[in-house]
Amino acid sequence: MAQGPHRILLIGSNGQVGRELLRTLTPLGEVVTTARGDKSSFIVDLAKPDTLVQAFDKVKPTLVVNAAAYTAVDKAESEPDVAEVVNAIAPGIIGELAAKQGAAVIHYSTDYVFDGASTCPYQEYDKTNPVGVYGRTKLQGEQALLDATESVLILRTAWVYGQYRKNFLQTMLRLFAERDELSIVNDQIGSPTWSRMIAEVTAQITLQLKMEPAQFAEKRGIYHLTAAGETSWFGFAQAILENTESACRLLPIASAAYPTPAARPAYSVLDNTKRHDTFGLVLPDWHYSLQQCMDVRRDS
Ligand SMILES: NC(=O)c1ccc[n+]([C@@H]2O[C@H](COP(=O)([O-])OP(=O)(O)OC[C@H]3O[C@@H](n4cnc5c(N)ncnc54)[C@H](OP(=O)(O)O)[C@@H]3O)[C@@H](O)[C@H]2O)c1
Repeated sequence: MAQGPHRILLIGSNGQVGRELLRTLTPLGEVVTTARGDKSSFIVDLAKPDTLVQAFDKVKPTLVVNAAAYTAVDKAESEPDVAEVVNAIAPGIIGELAAKQGAAVIHYSTDYVFDGASTCPYQEYDKTNPVGVYGRTKLQGEQALLDATESVLILRTAWVYGQYRKNFLQTMLRLFAERDELSIVNDQIGSPTWSRMIAEVTAQITLQLKMEPAQFAEKRGIYHLTAAGETSWFGFAQAILENTESACRLLPIASAAYPTPAARPAYSVLDNTKRHDTFGLVLPDWHYSLQQCMDVRRDS
């Protein structure tokens, strides 16, 4: 392994945020990607702690960015043990290994740590109360990581979409081409956030903190990281539709008319003031980012 000044261990580099991170972190140091399969230089399976130990030993990272998670919200209800190992236990192990080696950690969490009973945007230390397995295990992971190491930032994001992997944008674009009519839930409110924006802000924060664990320790804790503005899934779908030639008709429905294995918070808008005040970084309104994402998609 090369001995450059900054080595970044990027866990989950094939995910929608991970793939964007590979682009934004590459100028900042030597990025070592990991995945579960055989596609990348290191195999890290968060369900197998020894693979983490090996990766840390070989890479000796300055910074660890964990973009991997068990993200299948509905499936988590029937696989709580797997979700727990990956989302709740592994982050603690990452924290312990990072603390031992003096590496800083950036980790991602979710708006689903809240129950959605609020009517105004959630701040970082508002009371959590997840309504499903995914949110519960992600919340446990936050705590395990904060307990394990000092030099850690946890970025809570929400409603992530982008060019890569399965997400709401990709699903809508496929369905708009296949269907004449679609019913979309209009009583869950959140902030659609482009994966590229998450990766850009992550790189900016990393730059500001000079990849120094002491600076991470000074700013340690949870930060909200979502696009500005809010909408329902129906509103998000409408905005996507406006960017297409499709004649598909959208019908607003209540969550009760579209039962899913996992319950979801009715309102999970996050207040981004702390991140703005601490790092001076603002994300555009979700409409604007969606437009940009669609332009990038068209051009690629
Ligand atoms: N997606 C959202 O709407 C959303 C909302 C709020 C917060 N977040 C958080 O944002 C972060 C990034 O999510 P994302 O949307 O980019 O997720 P994603 O596209 O579903 O990617 C998840 C990544 O995690 C990897 N992974 C899953 N289980 C693993 C395991 N046992 N060992 C190693 N890697 C494993 C996957 O590997 P494979 O490539 O092998 O499948 C994939 O690369 C996560 O912390 C997530 O909880 C996401």
